[in-house]
Amino acid sequence: MTSQGSGRQNVGGVHIIDLGHAQDPRLLNSLYDDVLMPSFPPDELSLPWWDRAAPTDYGDTMATLVALGENEVVGGLVAWWFEKARTQLVGYLGVRPDHRGRGIGTALIDAAREHWWREAGDSQPGRYEFLGCRLVVAEIEDPRHHGDHPDYGSPEARVRFYSRLGAEVLHGRDGNPLRYFQPRVRDDTQRVPNLFLATLHVSPEALDDAHTVDAELLATFLREYFAAEEGSQSLDDSEVQGLLDQVSAPGRLALRPIGEHAGDIADRAGARAGSES
Ligand SMILES: CC(C)(COP(=O)(O)OP(=O)(O)OC[C@H]1O[C@@H](n2cnc3c(N)ncnc32)[C@H](O)[C@@H]1OP(=O)(O)O)[C@@H](O)C(=O)NCCC(=O)NCCS
Repeated sequence: MTSQGSGRQNVGGVHIIDLGHAQDPRLLNSLYDDVLMPSFPPDELSLPWWDRAAPTDYGDTMATLVALGENEVVGGLVAWWFEKARTQLVGYLGVRPDHRGRGIGTALIDAAREHWWREAGDSQPGRYEFLGCRLVVAEIEDPRHHGDHPDYGSPEARVRFYSRLGAEVLHGRDGNPLRYFQPRVRDDTQRVPNLFLATLHVSPEALDDAHTVDAELLATFLREYFAAEEGSQSLDDSEVQGLLDQVSAPGRLALRPIGEHAGDIADRAGARAGSES
């Protein structure tokens, strides 16, 4: 398997393997081709980020969990690390379409929590640079704007999934969910609008009694992320400036459970379906 990986038996005979920073081309090729390609629209999926032929090590920027069935990859979680903001972005979480609804997605998040999202003193020191991270975030389609897809799945179901896992939506200074969009992840694709930016983990030091996080921490993450994906010139464009204005420091940003949007989502999704028919 992999020298760095550690495994454990999980749901229904599926093992979760923690590849950490190691990039095992056999597993990653299969994760990309069999799981991520059928799970994400092209605009949301970057080109393969590892060498398809040769093992590499990304140092401290990437980390991967793979869900292995009998002899096949059936799911995975890929995360990027942003050092200045000490923030991890869950870039991809996917389960092969014919294996969904069996607890594998939940098991992958549980494994990330157990292996990665811990306080620095909790685990083997130095194993991962991101132990003790301040925030773990994910980009989640807002069901008021995104519809169901036979392969990519249902945005409403995805919100239920993340709600059970305690995900919370970051709100801007105007008190509304951030009007967030994903940067362009490859040259031939577009930014993806109308996403929630949600937290999956917040360290105690990043959270205050009012359940808010430091706006400057989030702004630092956004600047790092957009510069990494689109180049530092993107920070000057008006859309990115508009995003940064929503979080501009000084101040704190509210976190609200993603499930709070469920009623609103049902109404708006119904309205969207009505207007499309
Ligand atoms: C979201 C996803 C990772 C969940 O993995 P999973 O193994 O099916 O999840 P679990 O079995 O642990 O939990 C079941 C829940 O997952 C969600 N889910 C299951 N199938 C789904 C699908 N096709 N689309 C969206 N969510 C789905 C539902 O909330 C379901 O609960 P429900 O019984 O209330 O409907 C998986 O459905 C998937 O790969 N979807 C496509 C890619 C994606 O949306 N990734 C997340 C990007 S933000």
